[in-house]
Amino acid sequence: MKTYRAAVIGCSRMGAFIDNEVPDYEAIKLPYSHAAGYSAEERTDLIACADLRKDVMVHFGEKYNVPKDNQYTDYREMIEKENPDIVSVATQPEHRAEIVIYAAQHGVKAIYAEKAMASSMDEAAEMVSAVEQNNVAFNLGTNRRWETGFDKMKEIIDSGELGKLRTLIIYSNGTLFNSASHHLDLILRLNNDVSTTWVTGYLPQGNSIFDGDILKVDPIGGGTIQFENDVTAHALLTPRSSEWEAICDGGTVTCWNNGWQWHVRKKQDIPGWRGGNVPDTFPEFNRESSTANLIKDLVHSLDTGEPTRGGVRCAYASTELIFGIIESHLNNGVRIPLPLENSKIRLDRNPSGRRPKVK
Ligand SMILES: NC(=O)c1ccc[n+]([C@@H]2O[C@H](COP(=O)([O-])OP(=O)(O)OC[C@H]3O[C@@H](n4cnc5c(N)ncnc54)[C@H](O)[C@@H]3O)[C@@H](O)[C@H]2O)c1
Repeated sequence: MKTYRAAVIGCSRMGAFIDNEVPDYEAIKLPYSHAAGYSAEERTDLIACADLRKDVMVHFGEKYNVPKDNQYTDYREMIEKENPDIVSVATQPEHRAEIVIYAAQHGVKAIYAEKAMASSMDEAAEMVSAVEQNNVAFNLGTNRRWETGFDKMKEIIDSGELGKLRTLIIYSNGTLFNSASHHLDLILRLNNDVSTTWVTGYLPQGNSIFDGDILKVDPIGGGTIQFENDVTAHALLTPRSSEWEAICDGGTVTCWNNGWQWHVRKKQDIPGWRGGNVPDTFPEFNRESSTANLIKDLVHSLDTGEPTRGGVRCAYASTELIFGIIESHLNNGVRIPLPLENSKIRLDRNPSGRRPKVK
């Protein structure tokens, strides 16, 4: 079996060192960072890296055994000289599109791009074109799409044992680019990536965070999303962080505490009641690393030519929801029809790299 040559662009937290931030009690399974994922995967060899910060790459090289000659401050040079099969783009969203487009147009066969996909809809559309025109396998780092607990949650919904899915709830949508990018992708997945028809939204921080079309911060945002199959999703802004619910005609599946606990309740006729929900069993499952599963999905796509579980169109769909919420807020909460057209808003925080926890 062929071993694929992998390279990471953006060697900081999610690129390389976030594994050191995961406390023991978390349900997250390691490997978590891209570099740790490639190191753990027997079908990939981590051969090179690129970052603007040489000091971060020194730590990267020590931890992942990437020699100095294969550490680059110019990602273009790295792609040209090292010719990797798979490239990770673990930069901030403002620095994502240009790199993904360049990689897709210069021979890279698979891309693992961090979320949020891009800082504007125009950038996201250019990424879709570059990836599709060059037949590149693509996954966005919305990890829950590859988490086994959510696979079980989806299996229960899809089985129909709880009746028709009606409502999806994100209890704490949070900041749109950093947090909601995960949640919005999750509700798309739980509803089988059915198309959306409209979105409404509100940003409690108000309009002072805009400078014309430029968004100066990653805004907190909530809203409502309507799917073509009559399912409605509510992206709430409550303090119940990392919790999600699927409500069906005949019961409910809920994830508590970021995948620590799972609950099924089924409607039952209870004598003297009109019918209540009683607890049922959430099936056993093996907790696995979602990063490892995402990388295996890319490897499988490279081996077979089959599509990945994510794909660039899925990434575009969740990006539309982010910008749809923003556009609705700017238009006094009106319903924004989807597909989204003419959104000119661009996130630009001028971000500088964060300090990764290297040990
Ligand atoms: N999937 C997850 O669970 C998860 C968790 C944490 C972060 N993230 C995402 O990962 C991304 C990165 O987050 P982070 O906290 O690691 O950010 P960070 O700011 O710590 O790291 C970004 C790195 O990219 C580098 N960079 C910027 N421009 C570059 C260029 N042109 N060429 C090479 N390197 C460049 C920076 O120097 C920096 O080291 C964000 O989009 C974030 O939302 C995802």
